[in-house]
Amino acid sequence: MESILANRPALATEVDKVAEVAGYLWQKGWAERNGGNITVNVTEHIDDAIRALPAISPRYPIGTVLPHLKGCWFFCKGTNRRMRDLARRPMENGSVIRILDDCASYEIVADAPVKPTSELASHLSMHDKMIADGQGYKAAIHTHPIDLVAMTHNPAFLKKDVLTNLLWSMIPETRAFCPKGLGIVPYKMPSSVELAEATIEALKEYDVVMWEKHGVCAVGPDIFEAFDQVDVLSKSAQIYLTARSMGFEPTGTTQEQMDELKQAFDL
Ligand code: 13P
Ligand code: ZN
Repeated sequence: MESILANRPALATEVDKVAEVAGYLWQKGWAERNGGNITVNVTEHIDDAIRALPAISPRYPIGTVLPHLKGCWFFCKGTNRRMRDLARRPMENGSVIRILDDCASYEIVADAPVKPTSELASHLSMHDKMIADGQGYKAAIHTHPIDLVAMTHNPAFLKKDVLTNLLWSMIPETRAFCPKGLGIVPYKMPSSVELAEATIEALKEYDVVMWEKHGVCAVGPDIFEAFDQVDVLSKSAQIYLTARSMGFEPTGTTQEQMDELKQAFDL
């Protein structure tokens, strides 16, 4: 069977972007084994011929009801699949799914019956919110950045906005490109609906969400932008850790400097 990407350059481009970012995640050391997941809303690239394709899986429950996802299609990393394999062979390590009309279940349509990520409830909840927000955001990422996750093992950093202010103060770009900062979700069972619901709550207030002692989630217009959000925060964490490993506590930009930036860039 021919891949659904054949003769569909726009859809193939979106999947190529996922593969490129999957490679970055592996290179950064954020994607041990099958760690992390990516999903992209590809509905705009789904034509009548794809819509007519039969399901190649049973109907699976999402675990929650997501009304904005009616009629939506997603490319998803497969569960237990490696980012480094997704980078080289995206359609063998991910699949395209359609959400069914009950908005509570899905089936796999192409290319192979690769079951989507175990964090699908969180991913689809993020997509549901992105559609509701109406900003045209299409991509969601969950990854395990070493520096940022390490910081969540210090209870002092888990208090509201402590980590956000610390990371903003390491380099001005972080404030500029992550103006709403990093929200913290207290530890919850991976892949749970409870985790998905807490993630959505935190995304109402913050750009990026940290799952305590696990990883981060970010969203964006495409997967490059979602990745950049995490990369910017990780850079700040690296500057902090580098200063600490040189033996001093970094001073950070002052509140005055940050306020000035906020005004200048209208953040
Ligand atoms: P999956 O392999 O199911 O995507 O899980 C990876 C992960 O990071 C779970 O939080
Ligand atoms: Zn994870």
